[in-house]
Amino acid sequence: MSKPGGRGQGSGVSAPPPPLPAEFVGSFPDPLHPLQPSLPEIAFLGRSNVGKSSLLNALAGRKALARVSAAPGKTELLNVYRVDAGYWLDLPGYGFAKHSKTARAGFRALLEGVASRRPSLSGVVWLLDVRHPPSQDDYAIQELLAKAGRPVLAVLTKADKFSAPQRSRALAQRARELGMAPDELLLTSSTTKLGIEELRESILTAVSGGR
Ligand code: GTP
Ligand code: MG
Repeated sequence: MSKPGGRGQGSGVSAPPPPLPAEFVGSFPDPLHPLQPSLPEIAFLGRSNVGKSSLLNALAGRKALARVSAAPGKTELLNVYRVDAGYWLDLPGYGFAKHSKTARAGFRALLEGVASRRPSLSGVVWLLDVRHPPSQDDYAIQELLAKAGRPVLAVLTKADKFSAPQRSRALAQRARELGMAPDELLLTSSTTKLGIEELRESILTAVSGGR
């Protein structure tokens, strides 16, 4: 998968991308649930409330394809959307303290199953909130993705919460904390559509390259 690159870090509000053909396929408890027809898949991973479902909607150019909620822990199953020529997998967030221990273990198994064992997974969009240092859970996922050898597009969400100078500083800081180069992280906002067009290009390339 190509890196998202260092562009899209400007301050402007971007025009929303045109909608992609998209439909909800289903919600499944089994991380290995097979999909027919078989197509390349992209999974959206990140902490609870980081903005996975919102990003998926922004990328697809749809308002309400995936379910968004101000209350964390909304997405509980493997939710599958057919978007353009592939499947996009919206997953439960990790690290939500109010979920029971059993529920958290279940989500963890779902994430691990998808990240490590789904044969047709082309790549992962990994989301981190630009405002916060990575959590222990984020570092654990980073390790898991590295072990699984999955191509990862690392994305910083909610960039609209910061001014342009704050954003640049936060980008550099998050990169240091993650041991990554700043141009390996893409600043995005599902609200202003910052970075959305560029991330969409990277995803569509990853999906078509995965065939
Ligand atoms: P779970 O499914 O619970 O893990 O959450 P999620 O990661 O799918 O997050 P979701 O997209 O449901 O968004 C969580 C909250 O953050 C909602 O109140 C969204 O409106 C808000 N949000 C998401 N993306 C952005 C963004 O780019 N900017 C701002 N300001 N708010 C955002
Ligand atoms: Mg969600």
